[in-house]
Amino acid sequence: MHRRNFLQLSAATLAASAFPSSARPTEIPHLRDLAKSKSLLFGTAVSDSQLRRPDFTPLLLDQCSILVAENQMKWRATHPEQDRFDFSPADFFMDFAASHNIPARGHNLCWHEHNPAWLDATITPQNAVSLFTHHIQTVVSRYKSRVHSWDVVNEAIEPAHKNHLGLRNSLWLQNIGEDYIELAFRTAAKADPTAILTYNDYDIETDSPSQTAKREAVLDLLRRLIKKHVPIRALGMQSHLRTNEGTPTWNGLNKFLKEIEKLKLQVYITELDVDDQFMPADIPKRDRQVADLYRSFLDTVLRHNSVKAVLTWCLSDRDSWLQNFRPRKDGLPQRPLPFDAELNPKPAFVSIRDAITAQDVYYRR
Ligand code: XIL
Repeated sequence: MHRRNFLQLSAATLAASAFPSSARPTEIPHLRDLAKSKSLLFGTAVSDSQLRRPDFTPLLLDQCSILVAENQMKWRATHPEQDRFDFSPADFFMDFAASHNIPARGHNLCWHEHNPAWLDATITPQNAVSLFTHHIQTVVSRYKSRVHSWDVVNEAIEPAHKNHLGLRNSLWLQNIGEDYIELAFRTAAKADPTAILTYNDYDIETDSPSQTAKREAVLDLLRRLIKKHVPIRALGMQSHLRTNEGTPTWNGLNKFLKEIEKLKLQVYITELDVDDQFMPADIPKRDRQVADLYRSFLDTVLRHNSVKAVLTWCLSDRDSWLQNFRPRKDGLPQRPLPFDAELNPKPAFVSIRDAITAQDVYYRR
């Protein structure tokens, strides 16, 4: 079938025609193998409840060569009380990944969200450093030598906060000061010298003025860290994409990724999805627009040798955080991910497949 016609088919027809239902999910193309042939990893975020669903795990294992815990390793999950850690959800995730020989990303050691209530109530400038380093040391040591990469610091940049080098006015900045970032990396490196320590942030992809400013601030931060020999080895670009800013262009992103390459950092696309709340209700039209955004973004980033992994933020629309965090005004479910709620591949899946296929393996080293 001509590719354009193929891509214009509705999701349902696409699933039925491209990947006969009798053959699903084992006979649809496996992104993990395709990615491997291009020296890339493909994967997703997962929750423990998803890992317990027998209808879902075969698809996950077919498609993914890297996994990240959606919430299981955040402070609120691992450190529910000041004197008590709870590693059961994180252990379950890590054990699942290990038992299937899939590299696991740790997410995250330091964020302004998803913290336990006791932390806000307890933290002071006097105790902050010890709370912070104790947490990082404990969590990272537990999974020593078992984590592919840690998102050590998540979302620290907020360019509107001009007084502090564009650092977000988080509880960490307020109580420790700007050095909390390097403290986090140095503490994590001491606890596990093998994990690839990563800085992770969002809205640094398009050419919009706000994303351009944020990208600049992130680059400045990374340069400062490297100059100070902070043990950072990768940048995570969350890549929660949307199109309320017109069709995005990626000129700034291309320049940025060249600068990142000079810093010798790897790049992971860590949380890819497309928020469709400003797109038409009509499903074939919406899926097409979502898929086009995936393709144009991935075609751009995959040209850069530093980009080593692509992870979506969950695999199936059924599980996307956007259903709760960015609900559509018309009440229809969002369709942000490569698989629909019934786990059928959508045009976004085809975009990922084609974008990876189109990369020249000789160019990517
Ligand atoms: C989200 C999870 O998907 C939700 O389940 C949770 O309630 C809030 O966090 N950026 C991040 C992720 O770095 O950790 C967020 O995950 C999505 C935005």
